[in-house]
Amino acid sequence: MQVLCDLDTIQEDQSKGFEIEGVSLFAVRKDGQVYVYQNQCPHLSIPLEYMPDQFLCSENYFIQCATHGALFEVDSGNCVSGPCVGDKLTQIESIVENNQIMIRLPESALA
Ligand code: FES
Repeated sequence: MQVLCDLDTIQEDQSKGFEIEGVSLFAVRKDGQVYVYQNQCPHLSIPLEYMPDQFLCSENYFIQCATHGALFEVDSGNCVSGPCVGDKLTQIESIVENNQIMIRLPESALA
């Protein structure tokens, strides 16, 4: 696994984008957990955010795609509203260790 960032880099109910080995990712902290996803909307395979590090809806409850407003559950990545309902974000394996967020990039993301 590799270090993504210090846990303190992201506050609860906040998100942050990263570029790791050419792969665009973002991490969200919610309910004391960390979730990491590939930054690619399943609708058109484009990045989700319209401003840096803004991956959440205005209530910070769902992950939101800025292009057509699709909403995704933070814990599962499932799309619950918008043009890609039934599809999901690609989750990246992650753990928190020694106050750092660690990730494992899948081969498919690196291809
Ligand atoms: S590109 Fe994300 S909802 Fe259309």
